[in-house]
Amino acid sequence: MHSEKTISWDTENTAILCIDQTKLPDKFIMIRCSTVERLITAIRRLEVRGAPALGVAGAFGVALAARKIREKDFERFVARLTIQSEKIKSARPTAVNLAWGVDLTLERALHAISVRDARRATLDQALSIAASDSRTCHMIGDVGISVLPDQGTVLTHCNAGALACSDWGTALGVIRSGVAAGKKIRVIACETRPLLQGSRLTAWELTREGIDVDVINDSAAAHIMRTGDIDLVIVGADRITPDVVFNKIGTYMHAVCAARHGIPFYVAAPLSTFDPDHTEVDITIEERAREEISICGKTRVVPDRAGVLNLAFDATPHSLVTGFITEVGVLCPPLDWEGIARRRKIIG
Ligand code: MRU
Repeated sequence: MHSEKTISWDTENTAILCIDQTKLPDKFIMIRCSTVERLITAIRRLEVRGAPALGVAGAFGVALAARKIREKDFERFVARLTIQSEKIKSARPTAVNLAWGVDLTLERALHAISVRDARRATLDQALSIAASDSRTCHMIGDVGISVLPDQGTVLTHCNAGALACSDWGTALGVIRSGVAAGKKIRVIACETRPLLQGSRLTAWELTREGIDVDVINDSAAAHIMRTGDIDLVIVGADRITPDVVFNKIGTYMHAVCAARHGIPFYVAAPLSTFDPDHTEVDITIEERAREEISICGKTRVVPDRAGVLNLAFDATPHSLVTGFITEVGVLCPPLDWEGIARRRKIIG
């Protein structure tokens, strides 16, 4: 068993340590980000990924930048830290947690009284975000036990597991907590084209723990829902605005199919993933490289003259969501956004 965490602070080397998720399940490799530039590359390449883990990465990124900036004058230090923070935030646009983690941590530097104080305060904040993310995932898991049958099959999409968070996971956290509580749960993991977070990561996490999992290709989900093999769907989220849930491309398709077949559709996410300040039209859905779709291994699978539209996320209206499994309970739409905004301010 590997004991390394998805993402952690390396005090000895002043760096951020991450599991390289692009290599799983074939190889288990840790990467060390000693510079902000290397961290940004890790985020863009999806070496570290998943909304809550990106929140932690953003926070550690600011702490790292604060340690690497060689500037004695506090005003100039803060100005340079702010620029670095903006760069980290723009590494991926859709998951709200990245900007959330960066902003909370940068704020600690803005309220510091010296460069030294800012370095200490940013690292304290980042470590606290990482620890609180792990606690929050366990709380989401405990809350979610109530929506699981004593015995049944759950369909999930992408990877909303320990690899996407500090620990435990959100959607997979619910499954883990249910299994720990004695429920007999089988998981259907959609492979999640094109980067295969479902088959590579979700199946890797679950098989290591002896949780029953079958991988299906994404387009099999509708058939399996219709033929009655799925009791509920649980997915994670990258950003929940008052109108929609942004999550890995394909999520909306599952939500529509679940509604058509009367299957409950749950979204498991921490309050840090809720975004009260924007709606669907404000948010950029990340478009990724053509090659993720047009090349399979070393083989070209799309003719050069054909265009490719590689959207990383889609948006599911709240009307298709049965409930949001959060650390403060299962919230059913319509949501109390004022309450969520208040609670969101006091976390982290
Ligand atoms: O592109 P990714 O792999 O970062 O996308 C991740 C997802 O869409 C997850 O479902 C989401 O971040 C929830 S993780 C708890």
